[in-house]
Amino acid sequence: ASGEGAAAKRYLAARGIDGELATSFGLGYAPGGWQALRDALAKEGYEDDELVRAGVAKKNERGRTWDLLRERVVIPIEDVRGRVIAFGGRVLGDGEPKYMNSPETELFSKKTVLFGFRNARQAAVDAGEFLVVEGYMDVLAAHRHGVENVVGVLGTALTREHALQMKRYTERAVLLFDADEGGLRATLRSGPLLLAAGLDVAVVRLPPGLDPDEFLGEYGAEAFHDYLTEKREDLVDWLIRRARRRREDVGGSMAAVQGAREVLEAIAGVTDPLRIDLVVRRIADAFGLREDRLRAELRGSKGLGGADLEESRQPTRRRARLRGWEQDETFVLRGVATDPEFAGRVARTLTEPDFRDGVRRRLFLVARQLVDEGRSPTPSVLQ
Ligand code: UTP
Ligand code: MN
Repeated sequence: ASGEGAAAKRYLAARGIDGELATSFGLGYAPGGWQALRDALAKEGYEDDELVRAGVAKKNERGRTWDLLRERVVIPIEDVRGRVIAFGGRVLGDGEPKYMNSPETELFSKKTVLFGFRNARQAAVDAGEFLVVEGYMDVLAAHRHGVENVVGVLGTALTREHALQMKRYTERAVLLFDADEGGLRATLRSGPLLLAAGLDVAVVRLPPGLDPDEFLGEYGAEAFHDYLTEKREDLVDWLIRRARRRREDVGGSMAAVQGAREVLEAIAGVTDPLRIDLVVRRIADAFGLREDRLRAELRGSKGLGGADLEESRQPTRRRARLRGWEQDETFVLRGVATDPEFAGRVARTLTEPDFRDGVRRRLFLVARQLVDEGRSPTPSVLQ
């Protein structure tokens, strides 16, 4: 096994990760064979079933237990309090899958964990912001280059839970996702969510083909800082710019209307009235539209939604007996209970005060909690 361990060290060294960095992140190595961890833990008195529950081993139908991570660099994943709750494992070199991660367990939910949070916290307080990246290696590389206020999202979308974790320490998050289509989509999805949670959000798009790890390796820390300073853009400005560029060839008044709507929709989850004021003014200026009209539009899009809500409307016998806002709230919750994607939208864009009825307000909170945990609010939960 010591030979294997040496290979892992060589792999990490080749990626610029030295012993000190490896120690501060608790990196390890999972040897080959199928039961190295299982056997070692059995000696310490752990039962196979406990290993399966902890997500470090699997059991086949014949009752044989095998290690989840084999011949991989092991990357511990901690909760906000620094307790190890899961592991990622990277294959040494090429191989599929590139990373294996602990399954979701009683302790571990991707939707609530930011990789590197403990190591980033203090630096984020000092810098006034978290840098949010996509990968394990981006976090490690950043630390190696002295950039410490970095957290990773572990191949999932940012959630409200993630946002609130960061919000406890800083007012701002900078989205620094990969320069590919996936990174763009993640920025479009995560940005509005962070904004709705009350964070200031900036966006940095990296040069094509580079993730933060590769950028740092190629150009170094100083260039990285310069790039961030120069290219960072407020999320709302970035959304406005993008909305205009996307409609450059449409031109005319429709382009402005559609563009403004696109940005309004992205900021629909913001609840702070002062921020709404500022943002609406910027959108009005950018598209040459009146603020009060935009504000009315924004109110209209909240609670009553657009096309998505229409789709989820289903005539029922009870509908006739409900009036006005009661009816709206009931439709929203019914949509939430039947359409997971719609549930995600509602969780991102509506807030507690959007529901006037106390019981429905509580149901909304339950539904949002479920969405944050990555589960679907089903009718049985909500009725
Ligand atoms: P990347 O492929 O961008 O990871 O996936 P990376 O950190 O840059 O990896 P290197 O540099 O090639 O080693 C981003 C993140 O998505 C998750 C991991 O959390 C990874 O860090 N992921 C990716 C997986 O969970 N499994 C995979 O097979 C790939
Ligand atoms: Mn990478």
